[in-house]
Amino acid sequence: MFQSRRHTRHQRQTAYRASLFALLSSAALAQDSKRGFAYIGDTHVPDNHLLTSTNSPLKCLEFIPMVHGIDATKDPQTEVVIKGLPSSSTHLLSFNEPDGSQGSGGSSISPKDAAKAYIDYVVPFREGKSGGGRKWKISHPSTTGSPNGLDWLRRFNESCYDIDSKNGCPADFVAAHWYGNFDGLKSWLGSLDEFYNTNSTRNEKLPIWVTEMALPQQNAQDTVGMMNQTLPYLDKLDYVERYSWFGAFRTDDANEWTGDGVALFDGHGGLTALGALYMGNGFKVGQKGEGVEDAASGLRVSVGLMAALCVWSAVFSLL
Ligand SMILES: *[C@@H]1O[C@H](CO)[C@@H](O)[C@H](O)[C@H]1NC(C)=O
Ligand SMILES: *[C@@H]1O[C@H](CO)[C@@H](O)[C@H](O)[C@H]1NC(C)=O
Ligand SMILES: *[C@@H]1O[C@H](CO)[C@@H](O)[C@H](O)[C@H]1NC(C)=O
Repeated sequence: MFQSRRHTRHQRQTAYRASLFALLSSAALAQDSKRGFAYIGDTHVPDNHLLTSTNSPLKCLEFIPMVHGIDATKDPQTEVVIKGLPSSSTHLLSFNEPDGSQGSGGSSISPKDAAKAYIDYVVPFREGKSGGGRKWKISHPSTTGSPNGLDWLRRFNESCYDIDSKNGCPADFVAAHWYGNFDGLKSWLGSLDEFYNTNSTRNEKLPIWVTEMALPQQNAQDTVGMMNQTLPYLDKLDYVERYSWFGAFRTDDANEWTGDGVALFDGHGGLTALGALYMGNGFKVGQKGEGVEDAASGLRVSVGLMAALCVWSAVFSLL
């Protein structure tokens, strides 16, 4: 869903860039150790300070870049940016919602084209041949959480083995998206686990990362209810290694499709009830981060990268 923002200028630019997004992971606290946040470039300095403040259960340990679609594989800048990320970045996400249309942030790629691009472009990162010699851990494309998504993954897998009958498309983890209610989330994750783990004849089991999830277009109370069911469930689910809510932005910055109810911040940078629940740890509704707005942040967004506060300077100094 990343590209379906209100700002069409951003949409165009992000479509052609190595779209990066962050899943800032994990904390010292055991119960929060899987929690991160999906982060988009056009955000506010105080909000970032709050998310990364000392008491935050979300620790800025790692920035996870994404190769958004085929265009990104053709843009030399993609590898330059990925290579330049700090050594704490070790995981790389591949194509964003390839079964979805570009209008809703998907990358609209056929399973066959995706398999070819994955083997030619993404797998070399895993082998240390691209991306500055690091052996990146890579994920299969993250589809929409629909029956089409599963069908797409099945056909992708077949195409992978058509191209490379021995290895198919190797991966280290699975990135999942979910927009809908709690029962649907459970069922979607169950299907992915069945596809990749229970039913797969491959030896290695793949952990799942829920890199985007939300209950779209619902009121605050229902959204909080869904999150309240989801967090303890995912914390306990052994095959889910990390998860992040969509998203860590203000109500004004939510896109029309998700609706304002998914935002962790209100229009003035205070935590919404949802934000306070996600932060946990004694964070309060209305609580704001320190610091002042940075007038230059709009400019940064215009380069079309989705980046994390903790590595912004590293990412942007390359451009
Ligand atoms: C897993 O295998 C079972 C039994 O063949 C099948 O019914 C089910 O649809 C498969 N699940 C997935 C997600 O492919
Ligand atoms: C992909 O296809 C291969 C080869 O047919 C098969 O062994 C494997 O179980 C399939 N599924 C996954 C998730 O690898
Ligand atoms: C979350 O659910 C628990 C019960 O499982 C309940 O006690 C608590 O009040 C709920 N919190 C919110 C914010 O809805």
